[in-house]
Amino acid sequence: MDELLRELAEHATLPFARARMLPLEAYRSPEFLSREIDLLFSHEWLCVARAADIPNNGDHATALLPTAEGDRSIIVVRDHDAIRAFDNVCIHRGAQLIDASEPATCNSARFTCPYHAWTYRLDGSLTGGPYMSESTEADGTAFNPDRHHLNALVVEVWEGFVFVSQGAPDALSPQLAGLSEVVGRFNMAGYIPIYNSVDVWDTNWKLLVENFMDAYHIFKVHKNSFGATGDDTPFTTMHPGTARWAHHRVMNPNDADMCHESNTSLDGDWRKTTVLAAVFPGFVIQLQPDWLWFLRITPVSTRQCRISWQVAVAPEMLHAQADADAYATTVMDLVHQVNSEDHPIVEGIRRSVERPQFERGPFSYLERNVYDFDRYIAERLR
Ligand code: FES
Ligand SMILES: [Fe+2]
Repeated sequence: MDELLRELAEHATLPFARARMLPLEAYRSPEFLSREIDLLFSHEWLCVARAADIPNNGDHATALLPTAEGDRSIIVVRDHDAIRAFDNVCIHRGAQLIDASEPATCNSARFTCPYHAWTYRLDGSLTGGPYMSESTEADGTAFNPDRHHLNALVVEVWEGFVFVSQGAPDALSPQLAGLSEVVGRFNMAGYIPIYNSVDVWDTNWKLLVENFMDAYHIFKVHKNSFGATGDDTPFTTMHPGTARWAHHRVMNPNDADMCHESNTSLDGDWRKTTVLAAVFPGFVIQLQPDWLWFLRITPVSTRQCRISWQVAVAPEMLHAQADADAYATTVMDLVHQVNSEDHPIVEGIRRSVERPQFERGPFSYLERNVYDFDRYIAERLR
């Protein structure tokens, strides 16, 4: 581990021209994974849902946050205009309030614990518990529901995405202001969800983030999907981000039909532009004028990651379709194909990084965002 941290410290100072992928031990060391969970996932803002998933009062969803003690189950709930997040834990004796295996979102005006029926309002306050009239507080006074509350997490909504913090010291939106300037014009908060899934892939979580932000493999791996109508590489531009996020864009002049004619918020080249962005550690989006694909990537082990992902469609595009289901199916066929093309690649890399003799080669200019992510890892974990 000391050797890895020394290498990372060196890595964090490398200019792009001399950089390589991270030291291989960073992808295979369980000790390093613990460090990632402790220093990144337990302390950064993490995306846990989309506000559009819980549009009505009482709508709620569950999510898992990686922590040193294992996955932390939380509830994200719409309470009128506010979105709140709580530990999915009844404060009486710790039963799980919501069965995380039930459909991803559902509605209720109250949370009633399945164990002894203590009941909570949407703001997390306790209304009371049955057969508690004889009970007392720890200080000997009569049991008072007003003194009890679900454990709340700090919530921030950015561009329609719900983030929670387990201890991030600073507000999220100011850190993403530069990215908002790029993606704000798309109004992606209004995109309509058409697909929601959770998968586990046999690869290190960082390899999947790197793959998503790698503009170099598209012409090869995705020649039959994204590249079916031609190679977008000449239209791809890399843009510097900050220590918190990175992005690149694809502006293909032939892609004008990505933007519906009734869209009035995008102008000029933006009507043909796709943005690929990462909010570190593991939130990545592909944002187009017609649809949005995002992944919340978290580690399960050094060899497995959990991918909570969704596809949403621009409302004007969906509403213009004579057959919205058929359109959604066409979008999803493409995304599923892209996934099937990436899947064997990133699982293969996971096997490769476990071979000590493997040497790392130089980056192409199209891997700039891989470098940006790797530098974030190196700087934060060295
Ligand atoms: S554990 Fe929830 S009411 Fe008892
Ligand atoms: Fe890919």
